[in-house]
Amino acid sequence: MQEGQANIRVAMVGCGAVARWHASTLYRIPGVEIVALVDPSQENLNAMVKWIPQLSNVPTFSGPEEMFKAIGPDAVEICTPHTLHHEHVVMALEHGAHVLCEKPLACSVEHAQDIKQRAQDTGKVVMVSYQRRLDPGYNYIKNAITSGEIGDIQTISVICCQAWKKGTTGTWRQNPELSGGGMLMDSGSHLADVLLWLTSQPVESVYATVDNCDTPVDINSTSTIKFTNGTQAQFTVNGNLPITWIEEVLIIGTEGILKYESDPQHPWRTGRITHSKDGNLIQPLRLQMYSSPDEAWIAAIRGEGENPSPPDAGVRVAELTTAIYESARTGQAIKISDISPVGR
Ligand SMILES: NC(=O)c1ccc[n+]([C@@H]2O[C@H](COP(=O)([O-])OP(=O)(O)OC[C@H]3O[C@@H](n4cnc5c(N)ncnc54)[C@H](O)[C@@H]3O)[C@@H](O)[C@H]2O)c1
Repeated sequence: MQEGQANIRVAMVGCGAVARWHASTLYRIPGVEIVALVDPSQENLNAMVKWIPQLSNVPTFSGPEEMFKAIGPDAVEICTPHTLHHEHVVMALEHGAHVLCEKPLACSVEHAQDIKQRAQDTGKVVMVSYQRRLDPGYNYIKNAITSGEIGDIQTISVICCQAWKKGTTGTWRQNPELSGGGMLMDSGSHLADVLLWLTSQPVESVYATVDNCDTPVDINSTSTIKFTNGTQAQFTVNGNLPITWIEEVLIIGTEGILKYESDPQHPWRTGRITHSKDGNLIQPLRLQMYSSPDEAWIAAIRGEGENPSPPDAGVRVAELTTAIYESARTGQAIKISDISPVGR
């Protein structure tokens, strides 16, 4: 923070589980002030203040409209159920606020493109909370790809598995009206972004199958993805895992191979990276510590850093997610150009 800079006044819209994680970083950032807590659930507002007693004098509101009128925050963190994101981001931009939106940015291509356009028109920072873009392990992989160390990517396999079905039974996550979808729309959104971010190529077509496992939303899905440059990808999402977590990415280039493997016992730590190059195996150690989405977002608002996951990340994930659902529904391969008419 530069001397003489005014505090950034941030409102939290949605004060459930992930908002507590964000707020516990946010309130410690010098020059940042949490000025409002919004949630229709008094229980969750109380839980937030119990979690961070320093917020006990912050005004609370049951809805965002009322809060925007009364407080006029500079910036808003949106941590609400998925299908509310578009409405809440649009409201924030209309009130002149910067936005950190939890994933997914929006549940449809149209809504994601609308947000991207509004962010461009207003000049406000809109960031999607894809924390893997800040993870040291994934950044090692991204840098190795960008610097050409593994040549051209031939195939990439992404595996995202959690005991999601068991953990979300009876919650909004299994209600399509609030979630917009199941495991793919929720945790799968992170790995869809990883796939698109690492390859940096437009998707051409998608063929997918989905299994709802006797719930109203997708639990398992497998997708075969072709990129316009010929790169092939396999994206496996399993929400019915008998253990807690598996996250793996295997990238086979023409000159080398990169692998990311999470530790199921410590899924929040950066994964183990294996890099094979010229017949040798490199295991990068002492990777830099994790930097939070909240810090990256505040730095972007202050013009002190790039927005690591701008709205276009949300548009691309919405395109891929929509194509996966559409392919599973129709039994046909789907061309991205058919579902995203505005195009890239
Ligand atoms: N980045 C990550 O790793 C990560 C982890 C968990 C959740 N998330 C995302 O965070 C978001 C919230 O998930 P969560 O786990 O905190 O869920 P949650 O159910 O714990 O919290 C959601 C909160 O939104 C509130 N809410 C509902 N309608 C609202 C409205 N109209 N206005 C304001 N608040 C409203 C609910 O009362 C609840 O307190 C989702 O987008 C989810 O995908 C991201």
